[in-house]
Amino acid sequence: MCGIVGYTGPREAGPILLEGLKRLEYRGYDSAGIALVDESGDLFLAKKAGKLANLETEINGRTPHAALGLAHTRWATHGRPDDLNAHPHQDCSGEITVIHNGIIENFRELRDELEAAGHRLTSETDTEALAHLIEDAYEGDLADAVRAALRKVEGAYAIAVMHKREVSRLVGARLNVPLVVGRNGEESFIASDVSAILAHTNQVVFLEDGDVADVRPTGIEVTGVDGRPRSRELTTIDWTPEAAEKGGYETFMLKEIHEQPEALRQSLAGRLGRDGRISLPELEPMAAAVKAATRVELVACGTASYAAMVGASAIERWTDLPARVTVGSEFRYDPPPLDGRTLVIAVTQSGETADTIAPTRLARERGCPIVAVTNTVGSAITREADAILFLQAGPEIAVAASKTFVTQVTTLVVLAAAIARLRGTLPDDEEVGLVRALQALPSAAARALELNGPGASELARRYVNSRGFMYVGRGATYPAALEGALKLKEISYVHAEGYPAGELKHGPISLLDAECPLVAVATRSATYDKLVSNVMEGRARDARVIAVATEGDPQIERFADDVCWVPDTHEVVSPVLAIIPLQLFAYEIARARGTDVDQPRNLAKSVTVE
Ligand code: F6R
Repeated sequence: MCGIVGYTGPREAGPILLEGLKRLEYRGYDSAGIALVDESGDLFLAKKAGKLANLETEINGRTPHAALGLAHTRWATHGRPDDLNAHPHQDCSGEITVIHNGIIENFRELRDELEAAGHRLTSETDTEALAHLIEDAYEGDLADAVRAALRKVEGAYAIAVMHKREVSRLVGARLNVPLVVGRNGEESFIASDVSAILAHTNQVVFLEDGDVADVRPTGIEVTGVDGRPRSRELTTIDWTPEAAEKGGYETFMLKEIHEQPEALRQSLAGRLGRDGRISLPELEPMAAAVKAATRVELVACGTASYAAMVGASAIERWTDLPARVTVGSEFRYDPPPLDGRTLVIAVTQSGETADTIAPTRLARERGCPIVAVTNTVGSAITREADAILFLQAGPEIAVAASKTFVTQVTTLVVLAAAIARLRGTLPDDEEVGLVRALQALPSAAARALELNGPGASELARRYVNSRGFMYVGRGATYPAALEGALKLKEISYVHAEGYPAGELKHGPISLLDAECPLVAVATRSATYDKLVSNVMEGRARDARVIAVATEGDPQIERFADDVCWVPDTHEVVSPVLAIIPLQLFAYEIARARGTDVDQPRNLAKSVTVE
């Protein structure tokens, strides 16, 4: 997804902006650009398709002297990912420079009107229309002009704008797309997320929908699009810049896989009482709604939807409520019946996924009580919810989710138990058993890493030439099979499918042969024996079998060619441990195939468009 960074202050803007763009590379992008204005109003602008290195080559690695500037990484939505469509964009006079994340939905009408009025638009982008709209509205005050222009705009945006004649001023605005402003002494920053500016400040304002921020070196003023002042607090971010870097690992993804024990520890901190009880104070204000609920609808996309499946099954196990998971893009246009007694749980690590936010908003409009489960403070989903459960997993930079999957699972399981307790359906011994298992989970995850890390590259070497993979699980282990298959296809570009093992014989078994191995998530569960029989059927078709199994399983080696051992745990949270060898396997297959693990092709970290 696109990235924004802007600077105004006493220092050289160019290096700060380029460094900010580097920190935003994880979001995925296909072109990059930078614009700088010096104290005499001279503008420098460069933009280039492809990786940031192309832009750096274009400018010979040097930026001219300037203390005001904007920079952008673009992930194409309107128009090809080429030099012309790369941001920044400008008005006819070349005085106004704009960068933008999101989509201007009425851009065709705006563009037609602008062209009819004599404006010359040179790119295919929706963003360029904004620059010309601001030009039309400009009467000497950039913030006034931005507000006037935005009053004509429909869609979703985070923008940053500057004017050649206002040499220390940036104007930012957001609607449904994140934007933060950072402050540090005599300098200010603007960014699509804090990791771009964390090296310079941990004091940020998370802008809210409809905010327009007038950003100067000495401070910021926030108004609405109507010009009325809005009060916004500075938040102190406790993520260090190092936390957002790779540490000693070769990629962010590997670092994040290895951070899972710590992420689980942090995520569970405060949620497990010493008395052996679940503690979820965030849910207390919703107690009445939880007790009155007649059903639960979980909405999420991708990895988050697989974590949501674990949550749904935990809710059905411990409560009398039916619980269902629907992916956001389906929920939005074919919603289930929703009313004040439908408890909706929205799961999104970024908190900005358009396909998850829109259905949540719809549910809110229909009066549903809403719980959001997210990793991102200040994100859009937090404004839609009655209760927010933060994952507390720390920033996840690699595009493919790892530590946010395992913390989504544990947070949802804690939520399921808390709902059950409020409704009086959670037996005491179940709660105590669950809390014990959750307390042991961070060290069990560390052991799963120790057991599987050293052999992962050798295992991958044996399978790297396979045509495709069939991942299977049953009951509690099925979500781990889906997530394992997703990891493999996302980062290695090898085809993999996740299936309920019992379904193999209803079709996909025809794919199995010596070139298409079965990956069986066969950890201890109520349906273990059934899963084993299904896997035997696959083996009879010459499929090699990789099994993820619980330490001490006496029979697994009889039917598996390779076994990835994980510690025993409560069946409900078993995907947390089962996914670890599957993440490592996907990682090593990707490495062996030489793909870009942290930024796989065609993918973006936070998908803020529909
Ligand atoms: C897979 C992955 C995606 C996301 C999905 C939802 O590794 O990261 O499938 O899970 O795009 O993203 P969030 O959780 O940010 O809503």
